[in-house]
Amino acid sequence: MDGPEARIVIQLEDIHREYRVGVERIHALDSANLIVRENEYVAVMGQSGSGKSTLMNVLGCLDRPTSGRYLLGGDDTGRMSEGRLAQARNERIGFVFQSFELLGRLSALKNVEMPLVYSRLPWRQRRRRALAALERVGLADRVAHRPTQLSGGQKQRVAIARALICDPSILLADEPTGNLDSRTSREIMALFESLHRHGQTVIMVTHDEEVARHALRIVHMRDGRIFSDEANARRIVHESSAAPEAG
Ligand SMILES: Nc1ncnc2c1ncn2[C@@H]1O[C@H](COP(=O)(O)OP(=O)(O)OP(=O)(O)O)[C@@H](O)[C@H]1O
Ligand SMILES: [Mg+2]
Repeated sequence: MDGPEARIVIQLEDIHREYRVGVERIHALDSANLIVRENEYVAVMGQSGSGKSTLMNVLGCLDRPTSGRYLLGGDDTGRMSEGRLAQARNERIGFVFQSFELLGRLSALKNVEMPLVYSRLPWRQRRRRALAALERVGLADRVAHRPTQLSGGQKQRVAIARALICDPSILLADEPTGNLDSRTSREIMALFESLHRHGQTVIMVTHDEEVARHALRIVHMRDGRIFSDEANARRIVHESSAAPEAG
């Protein structure tokens, strides 16, 4: 499904992101070009400071580039108002972070429901979808637990369920296993594997070679540039530990 005929979901053309700190200019992204097609599974690697998070923030519409063109599903994000961009982010992007970013006072179910709060869905449907998302990540038995009552891997599963609730065209993950031990990391990678197998497009940042080896394509960054971009010849495939429903 990810051959040359698959639909392009992300297209970056000559993207720059410059930060100014005092008189210094930092080229966090320096002429980045990237095309990602539907159902690709991409790992982004590179040293600390190479621009990986900056890239993910641009891809996730959390940040705008200083120059260059970013087409999301064929739509030029540079031409979108802040409101449209926020809407595109909400509808098309699921974001998973290293530190989970869950709301501590809310249950797993309420956390997963959060992105639907601005939708016009009646609460029963919101609840039903949140439950289905938690089921998809294998947490149907933890819906009432708050984040402090969950393990690291479970917290990340809740965050993944939240990222999936609006059925995004792209799942972005910035160091999703950065706070997890190696066994739990493998479980999360098995979950990504399973999501990908069911059609999800996945882009994840990782420092960890072992984690990157789950992806089908590996992009290396250096000094804000993409300096290599190739198919992963040494792929690891895990059996899924939580099977999402088909479709
Ligand atoms: N808000 C900011 N203001 C100024 N400079 C920034 C800002 N955010 C990032 N940078 C700089 O941009 C460069 C790229 O940062 P980025 O966070 O994208 O790196 P990274 O590859 O994600 O690193 P890490 O692996 O440590 O997470 C770094 O030199 C960083 O210092
Ligand atoms: Mg980073």
